[in-house]
Amino acid sequence: MDDTPRGVLVLDFGGQYAQLIARRVRECRVYSELIPYDTPVEEIRAKRPAGLILSGGPRSVNEPDAPVVDPALLSLGIPVLGICYGLQLLAKLRGGTVARTELAEYGGRPLAVTEESLLFTGLPKEMTCWMSHADSVLEVPAGFKVTARSPHLPVAAMECVAEGLYGVQFHPEVKHTEQGQEILKNFLYNVCDLAPTWTPVSIIEDAVERIRAQVGQERVICGLSGGVDSAVAALLTYKAVGDQLTCIFVDHGLMRKGEGQEVEDTFRRHFHVPLVHVQAQERFLSRLVGVVDPEQKRKVIGEEFIRTFEEEAGRLGKVSFLVQGTLYSDVIESGTRQAAKIKSHHNVGGLPEDMEFELVEPLRMLFKDEVRVVGEELGLPENIVWRQPFPGPGLAIRIIGEVTEERLRILREADAILLEEVRRGGWYRRLWQSFAVLPAIRSVGVMGDERTYAYPVVIRAVTSDDAMTADWARLPHDLLERISQRIINEVPGVNRVVLDISSKPPSTIEWE
Ligand code: XMP
Repeated sequence: MDDTPRGVLVLDFGGQYAQLIARRVRECRVYSELIPYDTPVEEIRAKRPAGLILSGGPRSVNEPDAPVVDPALLSLGIPVLGICYGLQLLAKLRGGTVARTELAEYGGRPLAVTEESLLFTGLPKEMTCWMSHADSVLEVPAGFKVTARSPHLPVAAMECVAEGLYGVQFHPEVKHTEQGQEILKNFLYNVCDLAPTWTPVSIIEDAVERIRAQVGQERVICGLSGGVDSAVAALLTYKAVGDQLTCIFVDHGLMRKGEGQEVEDTFRRHFHVPLVHVQAQERFLSRLVGVVDPEQKRKVIGEEFIRTFEEEAGRLGKVSFLVQGTLYSDVIESGTRQAAKIKSHHNVGGLPEDMEFELVEPLRMLFKDEVRVVGEELGLPENIVWRQPFPGPGLAIRIIGEVTEERLRILREADAILLEEVRRGGWYRRLWQSFAVLPAIRSVGVMGDERTYAYPVVIRAVTSDDAMTADWARLPHDLLERISQRIINEVPGVNRVVLDISSKPPSTIEWE
């Protein structure tokens, strides 16, 4: 936070809601970052936070190797809010008593505010709050007072105003806590004396300034993919350094209907961003001849993408910087997630590994929904800002078996109809993804007294928060019927439409 806006640091003790706390603080228009609980005090101080929040966590403060903070952190004069484990840690470090009793609580509990407190200013004296704890604070440390309790819990909130130390046993970041957001606002605005100044406009101004400082007079390139992240990253960079930026859009011919044109129209015509639109359809298709294995497809497309990108970048002369749409969720997760490899994701627009560029990552501290808000503020059209995620290898991994021009045409048309109807039905933004899949089978049908032997098209529509898990969407039957009728009637080569009703896990969102 040293050169970032003044805000709040959330110390992560491994609680499932730690990231959510940072998001809620940002929703209060205050900048917030998540950092490991054991970040050295000097490093924390250097970030000049206006407040600290200690998150919840799965451990007990009474375990011998429980995660703790350096007690010096509590004496910096920076206000601290401990949540759940964070509260218990505050109590423990200051000589209070924390114990595992039969007071464990899970779920919505009534909370009674028993004392005046800046945290509860302007709020009702009774409310429902969300609890999830096994340990409880039984005695508050000297100098602290109890400010709220629940029926079985003597200490639901405590504070030591003189030292700026506050703690709550419940979770204000969880929507089930009525007034949770107000409690956070009270901490931020009343206790930390922060103002709600972290707005889309300030985020843009800040990003632009930083990009200018980083790039100077050098040249920059950015790979556009058609998605919102690379689009926003590119526009911020353009705003910062104008024509020093060139965008490269490698059109591999595996995009959805009209997408290539849309990117061209948006960037070149509307925003006047220097854009190289590489029409590489034939090149990619010829490399895909005879390729049926999903991983092989990804590999071929990934390699071809890098080669094409490098060639185009090479034509531009000396370029020192590469813009990437890395998000804060990638930053938080990188290196920590030890998931087994199910699919090797190839991100079109991603970094060729051996290229010598310095990275410009203007979205590094933003969550996806924040990127969308910034995109709207920058004037990006809705169809890009709200575009559903699309895999780098595009339609190739939605065509089971070999990718041919004919099969691409069928899938692209079917997919366009599906999306049109989903939009018209008001479902587009409610779905994480909705698309068509073309399996490598054919079945018998009858059309106008004639026997047909043609492809089925699969409808795949899922809801999800982060693509790690997903549920199949319960689309209304009349919407499904319209999609089915239109695809069968309007797309030659299709005589059947089926619905995928599998969740992830055990299925995945894509078919390959
Ligand atoms: P799965 O199919 O693994 O997909 O449940 C999870 C999310 O990742 C997207 N996806 C990809 N994105 N390159 C990408 O950039 C890929 O190779 C790739 N494969 C899957 C998928 O669309 C979903 O949002």
